[in-house]
Amino acid sequence: MERVLSGIQPTGEVHLGNYIGALRHWASDQDSYDCFFAIVDLHAITLPQDPEELRSATLDLAAILLAAGIDPERSTVFVQSHVAEHAELAWILQCFTSYGELQRMIQFKDKASKRHGEIVSAGLFTYPVLQAADILIYRADRVPVGEDQRQHLELTRDIAGRFNQRYGETFVLPQAAIPRMGAKILDLQMPDAKMSKSADSPLGTLKVTDPPEEIRRKVKVAVTDSGREVVASPDKPAITNLLTIYAVATGSSVPDVEASLAGKGYAELKAGLAEALVEFLRPLQDRRRELLADPGELARILRAGAEKAREVARKTLSDVYERVGFLPRSK
Ligand code: TRP
Repeated sequence: MERVLSGIQPTGEVHLGNYIGALRHWASDQDSYDCFFAIVDLHAITLPQDPEELRSATLDLAAILLAAGIDPERSTVFVQSHVAEHAELAWILQCFTSYGELQRMIQFKDKASKRHGEIVSAGLFTYPVLQAADILIYRADRVPVGEDQRQHLELTRDIAGRFNQRYGETFVLPQAAIPRMGAKILDLQMPDAKMSKSADSPLGTLKVTDPPEEIRRKVKVAVTDSGREVVASPDKPAITNLLTIYAVATGSSVPDVEASLAGKGYAELKAGLAEALVEFLRPLQDRRRELLADPGELARILRAGAEKAREVARKTLSDVYERVGFLPRSK
């Protein structure tokens, strides 16, 4: 079976775009691949984090992944900082990455430019190398990510190729598995932008943990387009987005949703969508609540995941140490 690895940061809250665009694919990937899913807390501290918030966000994210259908019996779910080998391999790989390559990373330039006089950490700069280590240490074949991560995957392949060239086949060159078009979920207030964690518009972001009243309120105040016909079209980005979400939430298609709303207006669209979303998210919310009610069990699951991950990671790291010429560690 081919191996999949992906990672998600425990920062901000998981929103509908993350769930539909990433987590649901992770869950279905379990049927076809040997999956590793990391909660990347080491990446999170490349920007300032409050310690207590980071800890609780990490646990909550673990609960959300499991509630979204990721099965710890079939997949390896773990917290990145629990597997020290990621940081160790990242150091080695930094020595095979050029300063110029990192300077060209769009995400770095973007995040650095938003620091407005605050420090831009070296960790933010070398972030993509840690990501490369996450992937290469498991010799993953496929990496499900969003379009914004394509450049980091290219860098990962370049680093792996360079290392292999010098020391012989050590790493697998991973493929980025980027969902083709599919359902792109946009901000409910600014339908020209992706729904995002760093929301400048909290009302535009539907969190998967939003209670029903909150979901109804956000849908109700979502911006719409001029005109009154409920149809998906390029000149109706807001309505198209609502129809897309409606289709995903009801497991149908945009044309079917359009047909079901023929002759109706925006108000009916929103009312139907709000209820569909409440029902769509209910199982996930119930399951998350149950999981968080038993933190001992969650901790046990994460411990078992880290152990499984470490077994693979240790083997790769020891191959790498041997190849670069480190003296074997004595037992
Ligand atoms: N950089 C990724 C993001 O922002 C998160 C991430 C970290 C990741 N390590 C990874 C994704 C390894 C895929 C594989 O979305």
